[in-house]
Amino acid sequence: MIRARIVGTGSTTPKRILTNKELETIVDTSDEWITRRTGIKERRISSSTRAENTSDMAAEAARKALEMAGITPERIDMILVGTVTPDRQFPSAACMVQKSLQAKNAVAFDVSAGCSGFLYSLSIAGNAIATGQSKTAVVIGAERLSAISDWTDRATCVLLGDGAGAVVLAPSTQDDGILSTHLGSDGNYWELLYSSDRTGEMPAKMPEILDAVECKPFYLKMEGNKLFKKAISCLADVATAAIQHDGLTCNDIKLMVPHQANLRIIRAAAEKLSIPMEKVYTNVERYGNTSSASIPIALDEANREGLLGKGDHVLMVTFGAGLTWGASVVRWSI
Ligand code: ACO
Repeated sequence: MIRARIVGTGSTTPKRILTNKELETIVDTSDEWITRRTGIKERRISSSTRAENTSDMAAEAARKALEMAGITPERIDMILVGTVTPDRQFPSAACMVQKSLQAKNAVAFDVSAGCSGFLYSLSIAGNAIATGQSKTAVVIGAERLSAISDWTDRATCVLLGDGAGAVVLAPSTQDDGILSTHLGSDGNYWELLYSSDRTGEMPAKMPEILDAVECKPFYLKMEGNKLFKKAISCLADVATAAIQHDGLTCNDIKLMVPHQANLRIIRAAAEKLSIPMEKVYTNVERYGNTSSASIPIALDEANREGLLGKGDHVLMVTFGAGLTWGASVVRWSI
């Protein structure tokens, strides 16, 4: 039996840190409210004057993952980017990454699944490796949510941030790798989180502290409160399905790496799963919600901090626009 295993991880975030205190100067909010309701203290904001487009960050994260794996770009045969903020409507961010890496032997495409884009991509690439269609796949989650934030809406702009993370997958005939990935969608709830046309609703001038932010012609609209409740039950249910499918229990999980939307959601989901917070990786306080990028950034940080060893079980679990959700259990290989 062939499984896909993770042989390298990488991530990158923009240089510019935007703090809660700075946000207090542009919308009616407070560091205290944001910290208490979300756990977020700061987020990274990409600059239009630096090479920090979605595809730039995606390529940089992939380069770091390839370096860890010791794999050259010519060997890559598949590049997938989970994103809702590609540089352009087309071509895909994945094709731009292909150019940047000079990965001339790869097939490249994007996956749009809200915050679940990375796990959806991991599932596609994992299956391609398991069936022999791919031998070396790069799976990336990359977002530039600052470009689709409504910087006048305190209920959403304080939550979002930019960044990218990546993993390299290769075949394994051992008992390690992606044990299973479980995905779900429910389009009946798409109106809880969607993109809306920005025309006519732009502030005449962006606040000075946001002068490097590039705005796309659409922006994110969200019913946070309703999503909050759906998120907790979806995360717990899909994580339970994945763990049970693989014949494991929550006690077998060494580290849970959840989508980093809100610390309260993460805590509530972990509690439902009876996974103690010491076993849950969080960095939402430093990056906010980076949508598809949040899990691979967190996974890379946990890996580089030495929190994972060969044979450890990692649970990745996500929830996002669509609605979409997913969970994957990986027996660690690095
Ligand atoms: N600063 C100060 N006050 C605020 C802010 C803010 N930034 N934002 C909202 N408020 C106010 C509201 O106006 C409201 O005031 P009112 O009671 O006078 O009407 C009050 O705070 C409470 O608002 P709620 O929306 O009920 O606050 P809640 O505790 O639900 O927290 C939040 C809001 C953080 C958005 C939360 O609902 C959440 O995290 N939701 C889930 C988000 C999510 O997971 N999204 C899915 C993935 S995101 C993606 O795909 C990109």
